[in-house]
Amino acid sequence: MVELAVGLGTLAPAHIAALTGGRSIERIVYSAEEIAARVRSLGDEITRAYEGEDDLLVLGLLKGSFIFLSDLVRCISRPVQVDFLVASSYGAGTTSSGQVELLYQPAAPLTGRNVILVEDIVDSGNTLNRMMEALDAHGLKSLEICALLHKHIASDLAREARWVGFDAPRDFLVGYGLDPAEDFRHLPFIASLSEQDQG
Ligand code: PRP
Repeated sequence: MVELAVGLGTLAPAHIAALTGGRSIERIVYSAEEIAARVRSLGDEITRAYEGEDDLLVLGLLKGSFIFLSDLVRCISRPVQVDFLVASSYGAGTTSSGQVELLYQPAAPLTGRNVILVEDIVDSGNTLNRMMEALDAHGLKSLEICALLHKHIASDLAREARWVGFDAPRDFLVGYGLDPAEDFRHLPFIASLSEQDQG
């Protein structure tokens, strides 16, 4: 078996097979090292952007952003609070159902606050548009979006992300929080899934 290139080094096929339970992945798109470097610079950019501001609330959109969010907030060198939103639209499928269900809203007060919504990926844009609707109703002081991945295929985004980790290919991406039917979220890298494994 050929070793999969992962950018800054290689991961043994046996290690990858252990992580995936033997299901095949097409290729590693972003290695753990590439992601870590990019997350560090996003943290620096965000730190600089809020200089002089007293308040910053980072809202992680679950479940997909859980790893990105936890890495990102540790790279923000200023006081920050964290809360969550939970939304779902893909279910077990690989294309958006178009129906974005908001399952949990933040417990933190939102009115008058500087908020960054953290997304793992902007694909069809349905989720982001639904979240903008929900958050705009709260009268925030400011609202910015930080997305780790952006496919740039959404034609009707209500708001563009201010910070994007990577301009992503159109493949079905998994790992580092992203799933097909709840699998593969724990992979430390982001991979493109083979067609036969897309369910
Ligand atoms: C995924 C992903 C994003 C959203 C992006 O969430 O985490 O939030 O879809 O897709 P879109 O731009 O086409 O709306 P999903 O609904 O699968 O829930 P999850 O975060 O629990 O995986």
